[in-house]
Formats: sequence, C-alpha cells, structure tokens
Amino acid sequence: MKVPFYGHVRQYQNIKAEIDANMQEVLMSGQYVQGPMLKKFEEELAAYTGAKYAIGVGNGTDALWLTFMALGLGPGDELITNANTFFATAEAIWIAGCTAVLVDCDEKTRCIDPAAVRKAISKRTKSIVPVHLYGQCAPMDEIRKIADEYGLFVIEDNAQAFDARGKNFKIGELSDAVCTSFIIQKNLGTFGDGGAIWTNHQYINDIVRKLRNHGSGKRDVHSPGFNSRLDDLHAGILSAKLKHIAKWSDRRIEIAKKYDAGLKGCDFLDLPNARPGYRHVYHLYEIETKNPADRDVLLAYLNKNDIDAKTHYSIAIHKQEGFPWGKPTRLGLPLTNAEKNASSCISLPMFPELTDEEVAFTIQVVRDWPKNK
Ligand SMILES: Cc1ncc(COP(=O)(O)O)c(C=O)c1O
Repeated sequence: MKVPFYGHVRQYQNIKAEIDANMQEVLMSGQYVQGPMLKKFEEELAAYTGAKYAIGVGNGTDALWLTFMALGLGPGDELITNANTFFATAEAIWIAGCTAVLVDCDEKTRCIDPAAVRKAISKRTKSIVPVHLYGQCAPMDEIRKIADEYGLFVIEDNAQAFDARGKNFKIGELSDAVCTSFIIQKNLGTFGDGGAIWTNHQYINDIVRKLRNHGSGKRDVHSPGFNSRLDDLHAGILSAKLKHIAKWSDRRIEIAKKYDAGLKGCDFLDLPNARPGYRHVYHLYEIETKNPADRDVLLAYLNKNDIDAKTHYSIAIHKQEGFPWGKPTRLGLPLTNAEKNASSCISLPMFPELTDEEVAFTIQVVRDWPKNK
C-alpha cells in the first residue's frame, strides 16, 4: 500500500458535480474577475466566519501584508510572530516594510508562547501576528489581554486552521482581522492560489478592497494599490468546498484520534498536543522525534516504506541561509522550542479522504521503526 500525503484528486472526485457546476456557472457568466461568484463566496465566507466583512485576495501572503498596510503599519513598526511558522508570515511583514520580531513557541502545542510575546514587546511594537499552527488556534484570550495592555493590533494568520476554534472564542472574535490562504493543500483549498481576510472593521474592508484592485473602488478612479484579487473560478471552487468543510474537519479530528491511539507508547516520539476544549482541525498531524538525530532517519524509513511523510518546517526562518537578508528583524531569544520543533518534526499523511486502512498501515509502519532502524 502507498499512502499519499495529499488527497486533492480524491476530494475533487467526491464533490465533482458541485465544483463543475460552479465552474460552469462562472464560465458562462462571462465575468471572471470581481464578478458575481466572488461576491457570493465573500458573502458565504462572512456568514461562515461570523465576520461583518470578508474580502477575497490573491493568496494568503497578500492577505497578511494588505491587512498590515490597511492598518497603516510600515517601516519602524515591529510585528511579533512565531519563529516556527511558514516563511510567508515573516515575508509578509517584510513586504509591508515592517520589522519581524520572531518569538518562541509553546513547549507542547507549538503555537506562539504568550510569555515570549510579552517579553519581546518594545516601544516600537505595533501588532501581534499569532499563527494558528498545524490547525490549532493560538491562545487568543491571552494574546488579546497582552494586546489590550499595550494597545496593539492583533492579526491572526489562519492559513492553517480554517474552521478551528478556541475554548471560549471563535477565530476572529479577539482580533482586528483574520488572514487565510486557500492554496491547494489548505483545509479549505482551491486548485491554485487564493486567500482572504475577514474582519469586523469597516475601514480595513474598504481599504483592502481598494488596495487589491489597483487602488480603485470606482471605474477610472485610482490611488496607488496592487493587483491581488481572488478569481471567480477559484471563488466557485471554494464556495462548493465551503459547504463540506465542517464535515472534513470532523474527519481530520477522527483520523488524529486514530493516530493518537495507535502511536501511544512509541517512546521515540512526541505526539501533537491539543489544548483542552479547543477544536484543533489538524491541517497537519505533526509528530516530533524525541531525539532530533532520529528525524531524518525516521523520515527516510517512512518514505522508503511508501508513507509519504514530510516536514513542516525543518529549517526555522532564522536558520535559513542568508537570514535576515538585510530585512528588519529582531529575534526574541531564546528560541529553544522553535528550534527543537524544526529539528524534530515529521508530518504524517493527513487529509479527510485518507482511508482507515491507510491510517492503520501508517501507524504500523511507524510502530515497526525501532525493529527496522
Ligand atoms: C502559516 C502560513 N502563513 C501564510 C501562508 C501563505 O499563504 P499563501 O501560500 O497562500 O501565500 C501559508 C501557506 O502557504 C501558511 O501556512
């Protein structure tokens, strides 16, 4: 048996009629950019998230920097985020001309550590950008408290946790804006690039809508902006998929429970840690080898035995070659947990269409590793 890492085609086949119908509708409408399907999807997204406004943009990275710009953040302003995130979070901070302050993650959940955030605050700090890593919400209640104390914006990087929730809060409830990515492999992903922002602030909505469209809200009237729009074909695919997302998240949670039970007792591993009461939607099922030296060996063994496991992310941002490339950056040292995470992480196959047999096979191969080392 070969266990793939992604299930994009399986997912398409399962809801082909719904996706094809929406694509046909767009193709026949003759309106492909900022057309009726985008409007419809934005309304559905706002309704789903409970936000007043949802704006589709070109990708998740643009969603972040467009939001930073809409908030007036720029050179000299420090934005605090995870050291252990996908590169794009820091990149978006730099694109907006701001300073990226990279801080450590929690020892267990790998989400941003509020104590590290607090320690890193300076006179220049303007915003916290917590990343809901691997599908689990950061402790937004604690982040909000810090933000209120220091008068900071909070912008959630929710690229990995669509449909997740905290214990007593929804994503978006305790922040100024939420940014997400719809790239193929995300929990809600299109067949290409896409992104969105949702917010309750009308001014963020108004500014981002103009910025994404060459600074124009009205034909022939412009101020400097960009081109970063969510195409209607992608909006149609996402609209079809949005109707299934809760069920898909439930299946991810079910698979995670199977992995948790099956891998319990593997003394060479640490398993993911979900905060009690949180809805962790397992964008990734991330395990860590207790001994960093084991990681590459275990990964190679899994791949050799037909399990397509990967790493997210094996080189922390501050360890990338050439870092920080002259970009304004500050490190909230120590970054011990983020570095352990990078050196030990392995993502096992995780997508809703994974079969129980594939999950059981993956568990067995992992469990057999000590005998085959
Ligand atoms: C945490 C995080 N932030 C930002 C992004 C950027 O999204 P995109 O690739 O759509 O630009 C991604 C994913 O790619 C991500 O995982």
